[in-house]
Amino acid sequence: MSKTIYFIANWKMNGNFHSITEIENVNNFLRKNVFSKLKKIIFCPPSNLLVSFTKKIKAKLIDFGAQDISKIDFSHGPYTGQLSAKMIKDSGANYVIIGHSEKRLLDEDYKTIKKKISIAIKNKLKVIFCIGENLSQKNKNLSFKTLKNQITNSLDKKIDFNNLIIAYEPIWSIGTGIIPSNNYLDQIYQNLKKFLNEKYKVKYPVLIYGGSVTTDNVAILAKNSLISGFLIGGASLRSKSLIKIIKNYFK
Ligand code: PGA
Repeated sequence: MSKTIYFIANWKMNGNFHSITEIENVNNFLRKNVFSKLKKIIFCPPSNLLVSFTKKIKAKLIDFGAQDISKIDFSHGPYTGQLSAKMIKDSGANYVIIGHSEKRLLDEDYKTIKKKISIAIKNKLKVIFCIGENLSQKNKNLSFKTLKNQITNSLDKKIDFNNLIIAYEPIWSIGTGIIPSNNYLDQIYQNLKKFLNEKYKVKYPVLIYGGSVTTDNVAILAKNSLISGFLIGGASLRSKSLIKIIKNYFK
């Protein structure tokens, strides 16, 4: 079965109007190169840039996502500082990142995450749902238990997995340059697949990896057939490295 490989650029709090050239460069590259596997590149810039980017870039293989939506389940109203899921959708995004560890650290608890996931899906945004253990949980052999807790506390039992990408991002790997060994990843993804099948009856969940993905390590990560793509932070900010990541994956 040919599956889509996702390259999701999480720009975090970076980029400005001129950064559109990075996306244009990636688009030019995609137009000139054909790969055997299906792929999708999703750019998640800060939300202030979404409208201008989505208006300018109309490309088959490129899509857009936001890094957050409001937990308020209204399309508009007297909520200072909030951007509703509908506003994000109207700005041309089709995805949203929810549950990122950097966001959990600030203000996202399980209740908020669960609520945002349901609001996003209701507004036709697909969710890139992030899970991951921290270093102390890993050292205590609690990695998978942590992931299970994060999943069961955040996903409704009846969630439609067509609207969901699960990004496994070990917190100890984000921005550190360290990636887990292939053995470690094998275990995690096999356990995840088994657990999601048992609990949610989903056969082919879309599972991706995030945390220090670079041009150098993507080929190693590509060996794991259960990984259908990547959530890329630092290395996604420049088109040069993002293009090289895509190239090296398919090499
Ligand atoms: P990184 O970030 O690639 O810079 O480690 C990944 C992420 O936080 O999504």
